[in-house]
Amino acid sequence: MLTPEITKLLNDQVNAEYFASNVYLQMSAWCEINGLEGSAKFFRAHSLEEREHMDKIFDYMTECGQAVSIEEIPKPPAEYGTLMDVIKGAYEHELKVTAMIKNIADTAFSTKDYTTFNFIEWFIAEQHEEEVLFGKILDKAKVLGFDGQPGQQLHIMDNYLRFAEGNASK
Ligand code: FEO
Repeated sequence: MLTPEITKLLNDQVNAEYFASNVYLQMSAWCEINGLEGSAKFFRAHSLEEREHMDKIFDYMTECGQAVSIEEIPKPPAEYGTLMDVIKGAYEHELKVTAMIKNIADTAFSTKDYTTFNFIEWFIAEQHEEEVLFGKILDKAKVLGFDGQPGQQLHIMDNYLRFAEGNASK
């Protein structure tokens, strides 16, 4: 049985992961239309990952006998100046999600809801991975002296992003 406080936090997280999925889908659309196929592929795959995160929390709530409420999802940002703005936007977005996940962990632990605490640990590890992933993409941009402007570095960054999940785990 979930407390009303934990139920609300988990439900907010379901909706936040849904929003995140749309944020990355919109980023993918921006990349596609700007000739960045590698980046588009990366953000499309990431959008699906966020949808899986949503499903995971959805399943946990229903397993606990708690109905999920899908709320109105805000429109994600659609206008970006450069690929660098997209990457920075993704990194900042992940930092916000990490704060939400840590708040769930804090609340679960302090209210002795060890089942939810155990469940949310997976997301703590996942957020660490995602921060590392986007952090390494930002590091690569720095190494290249990439500022988002068209040219050879943009082409290299687009190719790096195509394989970014694998590159980051090296
Ligand atoms: Fe589901 Fe990228 O946080």
